[in-house]
Amino acid sequence: MQSAAREAVPGWMLDERVTAGRENLDADHVARYDAKEDASAASEVALLQSFGLQPASTVIEFGPGTGQFTIAVAPECGHVIAVDPSPVMRAQLRAKCAATDVTNVTIVDAGFLSYEHVEPPANFVYSRYALHHLPDFWKAVALTNLRGMVRTGGVLRLWDVVYHFEVGDAAARIEAWCATGGADVTAEWLRTEMEEHVRDEHSTFTWLLEPMMERTGFEIERVEYSADGFSAQYVARAV
Ligand SMILES: C[S@@+](CC[C@H](N)C(=O)[O-])C[C@H]1O[C@@H](n2cnc3c(N)ncnc32)[C@H](O)[C@@H]1O
Repeated sequence: MQSAAREAVPGWMLDERVTAGRENLDADHVARYDAKEDASAASEVALLQSFGLQPASTVIEFGPGTGQFTIAVAPECGHVIAVDPSPVMRAQLRAKCAATDVTNVTIVDAGFLSYEHVEPPANFVYSRYALHHLPDFWKAVALTNLRGMVRTGGVLRLWDVVYHFEVGDAAARIEAWCATGGADVTAEWLRTEMEEHVRDEHSTFTWLLEPMMERTGFEIERVEYSADGFSAQYVARAV
């Protein structure tokens, strides 16, 4: 296991452990995570394979969380570098790797901004439901970092809560989305968790995120928006 050096961090630098999300640092939430969220790992691996993932490929994953995708992609590639600032999530992933005899995953204590890639450029960068932890300025910095660690022609698979509706409709759309949340722990996602997402995290509009991706050296090859207007799934090529 590898730990990123944290010396000489300037005072203005965002601390990704602080912004990792209250719930992602909460052991009870992390223990329940896999029952709440299905990361569609098998179809995500198949998607990467359709874009050239091979047994020799390197995949850098940001925000692996409990590692549903990490564990699924590891047997299909050469090396997975799984970067997450949450110690609770990393512990869960480490335990899962041990339980499944996965040995080609390097778990790194860092984030989009602090991870330093010292190996040759990777073939794939993967991230699902993690980039929204950064405010927009830092998303642009993060995307620049990602572009620097993936080879030209390589692929960024980015999936996140991204708003795909008119700004003027935001209050009504957000309220309707939060109303789909449950009231007690039997619910997959609580209304209070969804409110917290909107209030305290940094999901943005598609019309802000997409120019950021293009500006930082990615060409969007494919995008799918969820019907509710709250999620976008991108395949972008490093150009
Ligand atoms: C909602 S979980 C998503 C887990 C998994 N990718 C999935 O799709 O189910 C978000 C993950 O992103 C991580 N995260 C938060 N801030 C991050 C950052 N700045 N860089 C990388 N990962 C981050 C959290 O610790 C957490 O593990």
